[in-house]
Amino acid sequence: MADTIDNLLHETRRFPPSEEFAANAVAKADLYERARADRLGFWAEQARELLHWSTPFTTTLDWSNPPFAKWFADGELNVAYNCLDRHVLAGNGDRVALYWEGEPGDSRAITYAELTSEVKKAANLLTALGVGEGDRVAIYLPMIPEAIISMLAVARIGAVHSVVFGGFSAESLRARIDDANAKLVITADGGWRKGKVSPLKPAVDEALALDHGDGPADSVEHVLVVKRGDNDIDWVDGRDLWWHEEIAQVSDEHEAKPFGAEHPLFILYTSGTTGKPKGILHTSGGYLTQAAFTHKNVFDLKPETDVYWSTADVGWITGHTYVVYGPLANGATEVIYEGTPDHPEPGRWWDIVEKYQVSLFYAAPTAIRGFMKQGRQIPLARDLSSLRLLGSVGEPINPEAWIWYRDIIGGGRTPIVDTWWQTETGAIMISALPGVTTLKPGSAQVPLPGISIDVVTDAGEPVGPDEGGLLVVTEPWPSMARGIWGDPERFKETYWDRFKERGYYFAGDGARKDKDGEIWLLGRVDDVMNVSGHRLSTAEIESALVAHPLTAEAAVVGASDETTGQAVVAFVIIKDSQKSAAAAEDVASELRNHVAAQIGPIARPRQVYVVNELPKTRSGKIMRRLLRDVAEGREIGDTTTLADTTVMQVIATAVH
Ligand code: WTA
Repeated sequence: MADTIDNLLHETRRFPPSEEFAANAVAKADLYERARADRLGFWAEQARELLHWSTPFTTTLDWSNPPFAKWFADGELNVAYNCLDRHVLAGNGDRVALYWEGEPGDSRAITYAELTSEVKKAANLLTALGVGEGDRVAIYLPMIPEAIISMLAVARIGAVHSVVFGGFSAESLRARIDDANAKLVITADGGWRKGKVSPLKPAVDEALALDHGDGPADSVEHVLVVKRGDNDIDWVDGRDLWWHEEIAQVSDEHEAKPFGAEHPLFILYTSGTTGKPKGILHTSGGYLTQAAFTHKNVFDLKPETDVYWSTADVGWITGHTYVVYGPLANGATEVIYEGTPDHPEPGRWWDIVEKYQVSLFYAAPTAIRGFMKQGRQIPLARDLSSLRLLGSVGEPINPEAWIWYRDIIGGGRTPIVDTWWQTETGAIMISALPGVTTLKPGSAQVPLPGISIDVVTDAGEPVGPDEGGLLVVTEPWPSMARGIWGDPERFKETYWDRFKERGYYFAGDGARKDKDGEIWLLGRVDDVMNVSGHRLSTAEIESALVAHPLTAEAAVVGASDETTGQAVVAFVIIKDSQKSAAAAEDVASELRNHVAAQIGPIARPRQVYVVNELPKTRSGKIMRRLLRDVAEGREIGDTTTLADTTVMQVIATAVH
């Protein structure tokens, strides 16, 4: 991390907004002054301006029971109505909401009127299947329009969705289904990835049948299956239903009923520092306010003329806030794409930008670094002149990647907004405002208007200029998580206990404040890794590893990786009784595949090293810092607190 700070300190390039961009920008500098003068009044104004309230709210923030906030609590709204019906009623029914591009090259343009009608039918179908207010629905779908239709239909009837990324395994899916007690699973036979159909329904079947001694999943009444991959699938009569058959039988009339602003909207599971994923809970009015506000101002959205594309999958928070809720609440026209960036060849994303004349583009640094490696000739062979703003999310973007992104993808003209936020924050918290902020490559820069953030020492004191510390949010914000599903204590412990007296939210990220007071993110300070912009927990992968019969003990670290930001590196001790069995097989690949099968391919370790000991303190805590030194090929740091100080030499010799 010391290297990172030094490199960043030397970054002096600055990019002020062009006069033309500034003159036409949606966000003006006075937003900061208004928010500073009256933070709560500012958010109340945004909530009123950006959303339609069936019952106007009279209170803004109720913080009487911290850390469980209530925003706009006596107001009522329907989230789906805000994303759909009101745009049609305003005369924009013919505007395209979704340009969907399938990986094989098939496509669909869906207007706001059509999307509204599809969601109304799906809402009627859910009701017919017995899904009611507050019931949980698991969504395990590829990036096809039905993913968005399902989410909005669930929201429309006041049920709660839990979208599970299609790349997660049957085990992971089952854990999420059980934790939320989902009543319905919406899936597809399969979806297209890298030129092949990747099966989904078989994983649902496997998930529901798993029996770890507590029997098969009993909360699920139906599995609703979208036909997409045309792959062969098994069928459980009575439980399984085809989406197209069921949807053909329901009406497209559906009145959206208002719900309280604090009505739960969704649960999204994310990795924490223990093995069990956390179901982050978000509610309706505050979440939608900040989703719409940030999408409009950070992306400089002009809904009449822009074509926006976020490449995120709906299985992640970016897919919730900046594919579904933010853009659709703002009446934007957006692209969604089913497949991988490199199919049928590496220029696919740029073909899509050219085809749909995308003007606002949001992606992760990992992808950008991947394109850098392939060479500039690929994007330069396409016409990318429609782009006028680029966004980055999920991990720090190094200055080199930032400059490449701006020069090669953005033609040297586009602002880049580096947006810092988390599943728990619900929406963007730190970002430049294009047209206002002078950009600094590599820095996420400034808290958004209405957001209070600081970088503090362990004792909670603000750090000085150019010093590093812990990133905290010092005041509640509208889209903040309302808890961890079923575990309020864990919510308090994880995020709020660290700076309890001050009432700060602890984000788990390290950061530095520069001389201008602007923020540079330095990565996680806890045992959470960030691989290709996806969060993974060391503990979760360790527990998958020790579930394998060969493994006695395991320690996992995130080692820096040129393309993916961090990569998973595992150190395992083989059980004595299994040593002869282990000698006969390729243990490393066996364990790598095991993790992929248990959690999902994104969690597959880059390396698995078999060792005889792990570095532990006298109290038995594994010193991951030292393992990270080994994994990154560095000299090993201070080993004096180890119970056995020779262990690290043995490990280093075994590895190199
Ligand atoms: C990291 C993704 C640096 C950070 C929206 C955070 C970032 C975690 C940035 C949340 C950024 C996200 N610069 N780091 N612009 N954006 N992160 O919940 O470590 O999947 O805590 O949310 O990603 O990951 P999550």
